[in-house]
Amino acid sequence: MLIENLKLKDFRNYKNLDVDFAKAFNIIYGNNAQGKTNIIEAVFLCASGRSHRTSKDIELMKYDAAGFGIKLLFEKENIQEEIEIVYTPEEKKKIKINEIPVKKIGDLMGHLNAVIFSPEDLLVIKQGPAERRRFADITLSQLKPSYFYDLQQYAKILYQRNTLLKNIVVKRELEATLDVWDRHLVRTGSRIMAIRSGFIKKLDKLAAARHAKLTNNEEILMLKYSPSFEIDDNFNNQEIEEVFTRVLEKCRTREIQRGSSMYGPHRDDIDIILNGESTKIYGSQGQQRTSVLSMKLAEIDLMKEESGDSPVLLLDDVLSELDDKRKEYLLENIIGLQTFITCTDKRFFQRSTENAALFYVENGNIANDIYLR
Ligand SMILES: Nc1ncnc2c1ncn2[C@@H]1O[C@H](COP(=O)(O)OP(=O)(O)OP(=O)(O)O)[C@@H](O)[C@H]1O
Ligand SMILES: [Mg+2]
Repeated sequence: MLIENLKLKDFRNYKNLDVDFAKAFNIIYGNNAQGKTNIIEAVFLCASGRSHRTSKDIELMKYDAAGFGIKLLFEKENIQEEIEIVYTPEEKKKIKINEIPVKKIGDLMGHLNAVIFSPEDLLVIKQGPAERRRFADITLSQLKPSYFYDLQQYAKILYQRNTLLKNIVVKRELEATLDVWDRHLVRTGSRIMAIRSGFIKKLDKLAAARHAKLTNNEEILMLKYSPSFEIDDNFNNQEIEEVFTRVLEKCRTREIQRGSSMYGPHRDDIDIILNGESTKIYGSQGQQRTSVLSMKLAEIDLMKEESGDSPVLLLDDVLSELDDKRKEYLLENIIGLQTFITCTDKRFFQRSTENAALFYVENGNIANDIYLR
């Protein structure tokens, strides 16, 4: 995966940007609040259909503009592709791939694969299960477009089923229609659970290996899928469906009393365990940061394994947060990946590397770029 050119129009603080990138390292440097992360955000939007910072597309539009546009040219398995996203508040996001309009955001998935690593990733450990589900969902959606559709479908089913559960309390005869929604929930939910379970099993192995190296075999990192009801970790779709159906039958009265769906992938979590203890509860800030780094490196390994192509790597402000040893390890282990690094000080990046470029960002302009070849 190789990003060649990015064009922005009225995106965040960029009026017009047209920039060619280097094949290995792209170091985007400058003072705070100049537009470094905005570039990373635009690239990530093309990969995942969403910003890593906001779910409100309107915030991405330049303050005084009527809409925004992004055009990204990249090479995938030696074939050039182009993603174009145009947004207006009235028409929302419109996407074209190789100049052909696509109907759904889901059609974007699987074209450009990117892994982002930013300070907010610490939330994967620090915050609640929703952050950990999001971590899994973003990677899985890029790898399997059908998974993204299932997620969207599941959200709709869940909403309908919850509404129905609330209405049954006041209108008892509605219970007869619950069976249909149970079946939808079980079918789509089980597919999501089977994929997540397999994903976390693979990620666990890769992250453990990465973490052992990062810590000189001093720490053992484990990732474990933790669904809302017990399943065996090698259950297939159908086996999950059977358990899920039984769980729903058993808890129907309670779900009606509560007026909400208590079981299913919307209640999934991932346990992140360091030396046998919860990283969230017992891990130091540094241990948490290293665990996330191991998970991200594992995410890259997995993307390579599953798609046969290296993802692009977006490192937003992370180098300043790592100690020298970990920084060195990270930089050594991303050789071969096209990487975009933001930092405030270019001295940070002292190694002379081939195929690298430095971009100085100031107030929504890339003032100069120096190619080191
Ligand atoms: N919709 C928008 N329209 C215009 N400007 C915006 C918009 N959204 C954000 N900005 C501006 O973009 C700048 C922030 O950009 P960005 O987050 O890329 O900064 P940065 O260079 O990464 O800074 P830091 O080093 O602090 O992370 C701010 O000046 C902010 O006011
Ligand atoms: Mg930034």
